[in-house]
Amino acid sequence: MQQFPLFSSHIDLAHQLWERVLQQGDTAIDATCGNGKDTLKLGQILQKKGGGHLLGLDIQEEALRRTQERLSSAGVSGSLFLQSHRSLPTISSPLRLLVYNLGYLPGGDKKVTTQTETTLESVKNHLSLITCGGMISITCYSGHEEGAKEERALLDYCSTLAPSEWSVCHHRWLNRPLAPSLLILQKNI
Ligand SMILES: C[S@@+](CC[C@H](N)C(=O)[O-])C[C@H]1O[C@@H](n2cnc3c(N)ncnc32)[C@H](O)[C@@H]1O
Repeated sequence: MQQFPLFSSHIDLAHQLWERVLQQGDTAIDATCGNGKDTLKLGQILQKKGGGHLLGLDIQEEALRRTQERLSSAGVSGSLFLQSHRSLPTISSPLRLLVYNLGYLPGGDKKVTTQTETTLESVKNHLSLITCGGMISITCYSGHEEGAKEERALLDYCSTLAPSEWSVCHHRWLNRPLAPSLLILQKNI
């Protein structure tokens, strides 16, 4: 696809926002490592900013193996955890960015997908960990049944967050109905 000057996919937009938000010394967590592309991008941004703490989670060993391989070949270090994002590892520096890329592992078992209840619980439970000016970035896939349900539940819940505390926006391509959408929550205070 032709490259446009602003962004050509939701992930371009996400990367631009991650770059703006992350600062030296921050912690960034990839809650759903999958193939590790987002994990690597987070690690590279932290490196560029002068260093920080990169953590990644997934419930599948295969995902963590692929992520570790990707990080190692790019010379990026991070701590990976074989666990659900229902609870996050303890961190010692401000959590500026928490990233979810929902759905199933590309090239893996499509039945092992993120689940509405777990994802919603994870987002709700970790709102209080995000530092001022920090962000939660969620890629949603409404093109499959569980993904559509998950997106709806997240949009409904996030719409109820107090605007004084959270700025919430949702990017969707109006003329690409099956494309992933990007839900962004920025902590105001
Ligand atoms: C769409 S993939 C992520 C893609 C990845 N960001 C990339 O760049 O390749 C979603 C991942 O979420 C993982 N997952 C599903 N439920 C999870 C949970 N409760 N906690 C953590 N990871 C989960 C799946 O195993 C899968 O690898």
